[in-house]
Amino acid sequence: MKNHFPALLASLLVTIPPAVSASSAVDALLDEYRGQGGGTFNAEAGRAFWNQAFTPPGAAEPRRCASCHTADPGKPGKHLRTGKPIEPLAPSVNAQRLSDVHEIEKWLKRNCEWTVGRTCTVQEKGDVLTYLRTL
Ligand code: HEC
Repeated sequence: MKNHFPALLASLLVTIPPAVSASSAVDALLDEYRGQGGGTFNAEAGRAFWNQAFTPPGAAEPRRCASCHTADPGKPGKHLRTGKPIEPLAPSVNAQRLSDVHEIEKWLKRNCEWTVGRTCTVQEKGDVLTYLRTL
């Protein structure tokens, strides 16, 4: 048993399919968030969060998700500090978006910390992904 375990583990890892579409990656994350205490996710709450202004300690100006991604995630954005263009976030416009669980989580963590001044709750993340996927 002991000797077979690594092989078993390896075979499990290769049989887990990568998330290939916005819908499967978002579904997987929403399930995960529910498991961590998130409730029913709501696109309208996600839209409100997207446009809400936060002023984390040290910020000179209020910050929003929309500050870089614009109020319309179907449009290209522009990085507030670097001025670099950002491709639209809405998967309906940009099929690459919300298709990779790790990518989504990585950017949510980074962007929440910068915008809100803390990591987002599972409820906030679930709502915002529900909003973005419906666009
Ligand atoms: C300071 C600018 C900035 C702000 C503010 C910002 N983002 Fe982003 N966001 C980025 C950049 C840069 C990327 C990654 C570059 C890219 O993929 O084009 C990104 C990527 C993402 C992604 C990854 C999407 C994917 O699948 O490729 C998500 C989701 C996201 N942001 C959500 C948010 C949310 C939610 C907020 C508000 C809490 C937010 N962002 C605020 C700059 C920002």
